[in-house]
Amino acid sequence: MNSEKFDFLVIGSGIAGLFSAIKASEKGTVALVTKRELFECNSVYAQGGISCVMEGINEKDSFASHIQDTLEAGAGLCKEEAVKAIVNDAPSRIQDLINLGVNFTTRGEVENGCSTEEAAEYDLGKEGGHSRRRVLHAGDVTGEELIRALVSVCKNNPKINVFENHHAIDLITTERLGWGEESNQCLGAYILDVENDVVKTFHSKVTVLATGGAGKVYLYTTNPDIATGDGVAMAYRANAQVSNMEFFQFHPTCLYHHEIKSFLISEAVRGEGAVLKVKKKNKYVEFMDKYHELKSLAPRDIVARAIDRELKESGEKCVYLDITNHDAEYLQKRFPSIYEKCLSLGLDMSKDLIPVVPAAHYCCGGINTDIKGRTSLERLYAVGEAASTGLHGANRLASNSLMEAVVMANNAIDDSSDLLAKYDGAAVQAQRNAIPDWSRGNATDSDELVVITHNWSEIRSFMWDYVGIFRTTKRLQRAKRRIRTIQQEINHYYWNFVITPDLIELRNLAGIAELIIDSALSRKESRGLHYNVDFPNKSNSAHETIIRRR
Ligand code: SIN
Repeated sequence: MNSEKFDFLVIGSGIAGLFSAIKASEKGTVALVTKRELFECNSVYAQGGISCVMEGINEKDSFASHIQDTLEAGAGLCKEEAVKAIVNDAPSRIQDLINLGVNFTTRGEVENGCSTEEAAEYDLGKEGGHSRRRVLHAGDVTGEELIRALVSVCKNNPKINVFENHHAIDLITTERLGWGEESNQCLGAYILDVENDVVKTFHSKVTVLATGGAGKVYLYTTNPDIATGDGVAMAYRANAQVSNMEFFQFHPTCLYHHEIKSFLISEAVRGEGAVLKVKKKNKYVEFMDKYHELKSLAPRDIVARAIDRELKESGEKCVYLDITNHDAEYLQKRFPSIYEKCLSLGLDMSKDLIPVVPAAHYCCGGINTDIKGRTSLERLYAVGEAASTGLHGANRLASNSLMEAVVMANNAIDDSSDLLAKYDGAAVQAQRNAIPDWSRGNATDSDELVVITHNWSEIRSFMWDYVGIFRTTKRLQRAKRRIRTIQQEINHYYWNFVITPDLIELRNLAGIAELIIDSALSRKESRGLHYNVDFPNKSNSAHETIIRRR
């Protein structure tokens, strides 16, 4: 009774999930499952944009240059073949987005005095680590515009069945069911229908995990509440390979405010000339020239570490962004939402400095995939931030992730045709009939919900203090001890009490914390986003960290 059957099960409604669902609908029936509402995803908060070499607009740019910038940011850990494939495919996917109704900002919307021809061209922004202008954007609300367009397409597509407020608990695999198949196959997922408080079995020929990031594992993050790493945690529990989880990107410029948390000041602001300053003896002084030739536009890992250092040295609580080189009219047009947010707090960007601090932003590791989005489990794909394709290596280049999400969603669905043909007919029906309903024995209502709230806060605090921008082996070991105890408590809770969305998220978040800690402990060097004071140098051999539960 409580089961749903589809060709595709897509979990997650960010850009990777929506784009996967749209592409999948050309091949079969689709369940698009999201734990809150369709709009509530990480991508919707993306400000800066989506990088892509735009031949014909920026003649100075080239695919070779975008590939080179990506490899350089990745600190020797990018998979070059993946970088080339994704960067080269970006223009076709951008065209898909435009065809689906996405409106990117044109030069005419931000520049005064350009010709009619120039006014119709897309405006290309610049961000840290990019040597050329190549970031398409929709003002400073690129994610919002992408999600608006894609949600509208999904809602009007009869092949796409949207399940909002449906929270995935675990993947169903042949191994989990003890079926002893040669390869571990994903058959779908057990999913909590939150409104009806019932766990349903979703059967699928192909499952796509597009569950986004995990920023909530840290106390300070630019991510929304939903970013709890659900897909990575589920895939890991299902014995899929997970890679490079120690590389968590801290965005250098999250607004510093006593009430407003998680508001990003886009790197595109630095792309338009903003410089970072620190307060010293009542003066605001630039400092990035001490750390990198690109100064305030250096790659993010370098800027975030420099800020952390300056804050520790100066004892200040935040540093400042100075974009007063532009007038209010330009700033309002180019960064409408940031301008408005600052103004609402009494800050006029054209005159005042903006207080900022680093905050956890993007998980460069994830479920290990090949360039088709295939994971180590048959019939399971992973796309978007949940996946680790080899594009980002040890540090993601700004605005490469939205590009990766659409390219990889397209690749995964393209690749799935053989599976759809293979897992069709009576054999699959028999397999589906044999899958048991979800059960965990005699769960009771808990009278100690404080265990969930306490553990949630504790994980986020020690991850920030011990597994943050600067790490030491001692701190990582301390974090490891904490997470072990917390995992035991959560497991006890999970197996004995009624399942709730909070409990599902906490279980996943704890899993993510442990993956980050274990990966960080195993890396005996400093590279890209992972900096361990006890091993301050890069080792000679660049290697991925691959973790599997078994
Ligand atoms: C930003 O606008 O600074 C964020 C862009 C990104 O993380 O790629």
